[in-house]
Amino acid sequence: MIEEKIKQTVRDVNDFPKPGIIFKDITPILKDPKLCMQITEALAAQLSGVKIDVVAGIESRGFLFGPALAQLLNVPFVPIRKAGKLPYKTIQESYALEYGTATIEVHEDALLAGQRVLIHDDLLATGGTVVAASKLVMQLGAEVAAYSFIISLDFLNGRARLSPYAVKVCSLASY
Ligand code: PRP
Ligand code: MG
Repeated sequence: MIEEKIKQTVRDVNDFPKPGIIFKDITPILKDPKLCMQITEALAAQLSGVKIDVVAGIESRGFLFGPALAQLLNVPFVPIRKAGKLPYKTIQESYALEYGTATIEVHEDALLAGQRVLIHDDLLATGGTVVAASKLVMQLGAEVAAYSFIISLDFLNGRARLSPYAVKVCSLASY
């Protein structure tokens, strides 16, 4: 089963980026091309029946599988980046971190009004990142069709924060 395979492959790193945090390191997955393919296909399978026009992936770890998923779904990929990285005109959203705030942005012409967007990231924790991404999508007049993650940390209740935006939340391995 893919969930077990992912859990066997992900590496727990204690006290990163700060004491008390157990970091889920997905880099060992990237060394296994067969598993990468299975992950992309499993996410696409969970999304069957959902109309998706665009995949939006969030810098940086949402860029690892987002473009592959978009290619498999045969739809465009849009990068949502941390502030100051995109060259053309952007719109921005800030969100709270444990200490301070972070800002993400997207090109103002990245999406068309009415497009149904899959927001993809590697991992769902508190949900703050993808809620901010959802607000960017909606600011451009598009709609959030679904979310996809490789891993969700369900004990942090991020899913509850996503329900106002899209009902469909795909995740392959939950903790
Ligand atoms: C991590 C992870 C998600 C986000 C999840 O990214 O890749 O994007 O945090 O946390 P949340 O659900 O509480 O918002 P991070 O900001 O560490 O940056 P990176 O992807 O560039 O490593
Ligand atoms: Mg990230």
